[in-house]
Amino acid sequence: MLPSRPGAERVNATSPVPAQAFRFSTPVIDTPGILILGRWIARLIALVVLLPFRFPVVVGTVAASAVVYSFFGWVGLAVVWSVAGLGLLVWWRRWPSSFRVLVALRALAAWRWLWVYRRHWQPVLVVAGLAESYQERQYLPRIRRVTCSVWADRVRVRLVAGTTPADFESRVAELAHGFAAPSCRITVLGPRDIVCEFPRTDTLAEPLDALPVPEMSDPASLPVGQREDGSTWFLRLHGTHVLVVGVTGAGKGSVIWSAVRALLPSICSGTARVWAIDPKRMELSYGRSLFARYADTGESAVALLEEAVAQMQERAQRYAGKQRAHIPTTGDPFTVVVLDEVAFLTAYHPDRDVRRRAENAIATLTSQGRSVGFCVLAALQDPRKEVMNLRNLFPDKVALRLDEASQVDMVLGEGARDRGANAHLIAPELPGVAFVRLEGSPVPVRVRAAYVSDDDIDAMTAEYGTPVLRPVTREGAA
Ligand SMILES: Nc1ncnc2c1ncn2[C@@H]1O[C@H](COP(=O)(O)OP(=O)(O)OP(=O)(O)O)[C@@H](O)[C@H]1O
Ligand SMILES: [Mg+2]
Repeated sequence: MLPSRPGAERVNATSPVPAQAFRFSTPVIDTPGILILGRWIARLIALVVLLPFRFPVVVGTVAASAVVYSFFGWVGLAVVWSVAGLGLLVWWRRWPSSFRVLVALRALAAWRWLWVYRRHWQPVLVVAGLAESYQERQYLPRIRRVTCSVWADRVRVRLVAGTTPADFESRVAELAHGFAAPSCRITVLGPRDIVCEFPRTDTLAEPLDALPVPEMSDPASLPVGQREDGSTWFLRLHGTHVLVVGVTGAGKGSVIWSAVRALLPSICSGTARVWAIDPKRMELSYGRSLFARYADTGESAVALLEEAVAQMQERAQRYAGKQRAHIPTTGDPFTVVVLDEVAFLTAYHPDRDVRRRAENAIATLTSQGRSVGFCVLAALQDPRKEVMNLRNLFPDKVALRLDEASQVDMVLGEGARDRGANAHLIAPELPGVAFVRLEGSPVPVRVRAAYVSDDDIDAMTAEYGTPVLRPVTREGAA
């Protein structure tokens, strides 16, 4: 017999080691049948008592139908139902918006609760890893309410104690696929109280024509497009700086032009002015006469930026100790420096001196210009630090279609992608669609910029442009 090698020795996996000699386990006690029955009866009573409160319309309808039937029989019931149906028809035709809010969307919410969310809740959450277990019992987050808007379902959820909204935020893709929605976004309402928003249709699928030029423009709230919920997307320029990021063809031009368009009344009245830098000469040169200053070469762009810095510092000097906020006037107009393809100046320009001076000027403008009425609106294709290390100096960012998932957080800040800002998944057929973070909310909102066509720009220059470039003096008179 061959001598056994130490490594080949048979090990008895179940042989107890001394520490495992005693095994304690929970004793199994049979629950008396009467207790189980009692519990079922209690739950049934609670259900019957709570039903009218949870579903007042359904319970009321059924109860009223039963009363009518008991007094007037089938014929009476048929007459009452026909009259009610006719009433609803008249309501729908006569007052469609109130019918939509009070009847259609509520009925849809009840249906979606029953057919989609309640039915699939447990399997989807268990597979997505959102069910918790404790002492061999499974705990599921509970659906509190389902409501429907014209474009999305909002599922209000009560979290299991000990879990956080971040658990849901990191599983938005699983939830969206699980409930057959194109995406999912999470909003936190309070402790253990969140809302999962599942869009039903893409309200931004159709391009949006240029918005009408407003009568008066407020540079702190310029209408530039539409939000996913159908409301207007307002972009703030006064008091901030905005960086618009997107791959080539993502629609950066439409954000810039929509902002310029909304600013036209202020430009016309002299309380705002736009200085444009257009290294590609393809974007802003088209509406050149709308701009108080225009530059398209590296040297002239740097000169323009340095001039802006000088005016900003002169204004800050005048305001020092007298005024803390800027109010746009013709003497001190709100100045927007529009920079298309900012990386041309900060990274790609062959002259190192131009790059350095441009970077210094942009950094000074973005770090000091906000409160004295200077704003930088810059467009960029590649948000990586090597290309644009100043991106954190822009408080507001717009993420159009991006190349990579990792770029989403670079643009919109940490956690934006987990919250559903899938800018890297925006279809190329949807230029102008973007994710933004609105003031006071960490939840990214999907928006689409209105498309300002060449004809619109022609009309704008014809009405608001000046044939000769307006000289800009130190005092800012345009
Ligand atoms: N908001 C929009 N709605 C519909 N179509 C748009 C919108 N914005 C842009 N487009 C279409 O996409 C094309 C490219 O847009 P745009 O020139 O603005 O892209 P860009 O991001 O500026 O690209 P680049 O970096 O190459 O300049 C436009 O010619 C237009 O046809
Ligand atoms: Mg462009």
